[in-house]
This record gives sequence, structure tokens and C-alpha cells, in this order.
Amino acid sequence: MELILNTSQVTQVEITPLTSKYASHFQYYASDVLVARSCPLPHPLPPNYAQDFINQALQGRKNQSRYDFAILHQTMFVGVCSLVNVTQKQQAEVTYWIARPFWGKGYATKALGDVMFFAEKEIKLKKVYTGVWNKNPASRRVLEKNKFHWINTLHQTTKYNKKFIRDSIWELEWTPN
Ligand SMILES: CC(C)(COP(=O)(O)OP(=O)(O)OC[C@H]1O[C@@H](n2cnc3c(N)ncnc32)[C@H](O)[C@@H]1OP(=O)(O)O)[C@@H](O)C(=O)NCCC(=O)NCCS
Repeated sequence: MELILNTSQVTQVEITPLTSKYASHFQYYASDVLVARSCPLPHPLPPNYAQDFINQALQGRKNQSRYDFAILHQTMFVGVCSLVNVTQKQQAEVTYWIARPFWGKGYATKALGDVMFFAEKEIKLKKVYTGVWNKNPASRRVLEKNKFHWINTLHQTTKYNKKFIRDSIWELEWTPN
């Protein structure tokens, strides 16, 4: 059944620390090649990937090196957003993905906004950065709506299926107001 959301339903999107409770949904949705191809998820996804990731997340939260969140609509798991590589200089990288059935409903925009609020107010980060493939304009839009700005474009050539492909990555950055 198609899930239809209006703006007020998007406000029901929330983030919560990622725990083992979400492992099976994480494993299922992250196995989708359309999710994996634009973010740092391996494809095919190894069988125990989600639980291993969550174990790292739990350990990282303890030592304050990373903060991983499940994105929920009401109580339903719809994706993941993580602040990783948190340094003593109060910098971090952000990554996120939304399960494919829930794309285009404003979830990433709202969840990233909540994570950046946490980054600024709770752990007092001074800089958050990320990289986005040029073939991923939706993600760039999500970042720009959350006050990330372009700082650089990297060009690289990769070999795929015996062909060389030239691609670009936008580097974007957020700093508090
Ligand atoms: C990219 C991704 C996170 C977006 O999640 P989402 O919940 O669908 O995003 P939202 O609905 O909050 O916002 C998407 C925005 O991009 C816009 N958009 C979508 N497709 C677009 C396109 N082809 N060109 C330009 N803008 C586009 C939408 O219109 C919307 O902007 P608007 O609110 O101003 O209209 C999701 O598609 C995903 O998880 N992809 C795979 C993993 C990934 O790419 N992660 C990010 C790695 S950097």
C-alpha cells in the first residue's frame, strides 16, 4: 500500500539512538542497491552487516567518537543518520540514507535537521562535512536545506565494468550560525 504523507506527518519524523532493535529493518533496507550505490554501504550487504554496524555505533557513542540515529516515522524505521569521525576539534562527518519506499517525503530533510540540532546544541560541534556524488542531486538539496554549503568539487576516474567513468564529488560543510 502506498504511504501518503502530508507536511504535518513529516513533523512526526524523529530520530532516536540506533540500537539492535532496528537491526533487521536496517539489514533489509540497506540491502537495496539503489540505497547502497550513493552512500558508504557495501553491496551486496554482508549477512551480519547491520548488527556489526550497530555494535560499532554503540561502542562509538560510549567513547564519543560517533553518534548514530535511527530515523523513525512514528515508531516505524525509515533510515539512518550518523555523525562519524567526531574529533576533539569538534568536527565530524555526516552520512545518511532513507529506505527506498520512503524517498521523496521529506524524511531526510527533517531527520538531518534534527541531527544537526543535536550536533550544535548537545555535542557543540563547530564543523560538519560530507561528500555527495554529482549524480545525487536529491542529497545535495537535503544538505542545502539544512544550511550546508559547497566548498569544493573533487573529480575522479573509476573503473567499472571494464570502462573508465569520470565522476565528481561535491564536498559540503556546515558551521553553526
Ligand atoms: C538522498 C536521500 C537521502 C533523500 O532522502 P529523501 O527523504 O527522499 O529526501 P527529502 O524528501 O527530504 O528531500 C529530497 C529533496 O530533493 C529534491 N530532489 C529529488 N530528486 C531530485 C533531483 N533529481 N534533482 C534535484 N532535486 C531533487 C526533492 O524535490 C526534495 O527537495 P524539496 O523538498 O525542495 O522539493 C535518499 O534518496 C537516499 O537515501 N538515497 C540513497 C542513499 C544516499 O544517497 N544517501 C546520501 C549520501 S550523501
